[in-house]
Amino acid sequence: MKIDLSNKNFLVTGSAGFGVGSGICKAIDNAGGTLIINDLLEENVNMATKHYKNAIGITADISDQEQVTKLFSEIASKLGPLQGVINNAGIGHRKPAHLTDLEEFEKIFNTNFKGAWMISKAFALDCIKNKIKGNIVNVSSVHSFKSTNKYSLYSSAKGALNNLTRGMSIELGKYGIRCNAIAPGYVDSEYNEQAVKEWSDDPKKWLKHQIEDYQSVPQVISSLDCGNLAVYLLSEYSNSITGQIIKVDSGFTNLLYSNSFLP
Ligand SMILES: NC(=O)c1ccc[n+]([C@@H]2O[C@H](COP(=O)([O-])OP(=O)(O)OC[C@H]3O[C@@H](n4cnc5c(N)ncnc54)[C@H](O)[C@@H]3O)[C@@H](O)[C@H]2O)c1
Repeated sequence: MKIDLSNKNFLVTGSAGFGVGSGICKAIDNAGGTLIINDLLEENVNMATKHYKNAIGITADISDQEQVTKLFSEIASKLGPLQGVINNAGIGHRKPAHLTDLEEFEKIFNTNFKGAWMISKAFALDCIKNKIKGNIVNVSSVHSFKSTNKYSLYSSAKGALNNLTRGMSIELGKYGIRCNAIAPGYVDSEYNEQAVKEWSDDPKKWLKHQIEDYQSVPQVISSLDCGNLAVYLLSEYSNSITGQIIKVDSGFTNLLYSNSFLP
């Protein structure tokens, strides 16, 4: 099975870093697709764009409706219609809900949920107008299924994204547009690197322990593992799959206890 995405255009939001978005871009690039790299900082976008064979960069804040509208008109004028969007842009939040202020609440929902809705809406309307059987892939998280201390709002935003995935898959199915999500476990990224430093003096050691004790497959989940699933969901090989939230977690969410509980 060789997936060929050549002559197709894909927008990957928040893809200028080295986290999940970079693996998604790499997998699309490997399959011959054309990329629209989006992120907040022009300098990062320009740098990331150079890593791929066919890519253009467009800087935009996807939590802002005006910038989303401008992003879509720029894509239309530079490349023509899109065949897929990957809603990867996201931010974390580690604070109990009762200690979070309104500004922080709005930022987390506007980026992780409202932004994905605005991008998906603009994409769906274009697909319907151009009679394109497009694909939406949302980047959710294992936190959308279960939560932990200080994660209730991040989990809620990703949970809302899961329901948006299911709901839009129902509403858009009649146009041949599919909508799925991938839900990664712990993947190496800029965001996580900074986060782990908050509770561990040795992030590498922490990660090794996490992988060995909390995953059934004791290997690092790579951003490319996420990208390969995204490419499958963007391809014709997943024609009958829609409304699904697929975990990429090396078995993390299956474990009732950590591996060291009963060695
Ligand atoms: N890394 C993980 O372990 C992990 C696990 C599960 C889910 N995720 C999800 O994967 C996605 C990528 O996260 P990551 O961990 O790779 O982090 P990351 O910080 O490396 O990447 C996120 C990118 O999104 C960009 N971004 C943030 N707000 C934006 C906005 N308003 N408009 C445009 N771009 C914006 C950031 O600048 C950054 O480059 C997120 O949705 C995150 O919730 C990550």
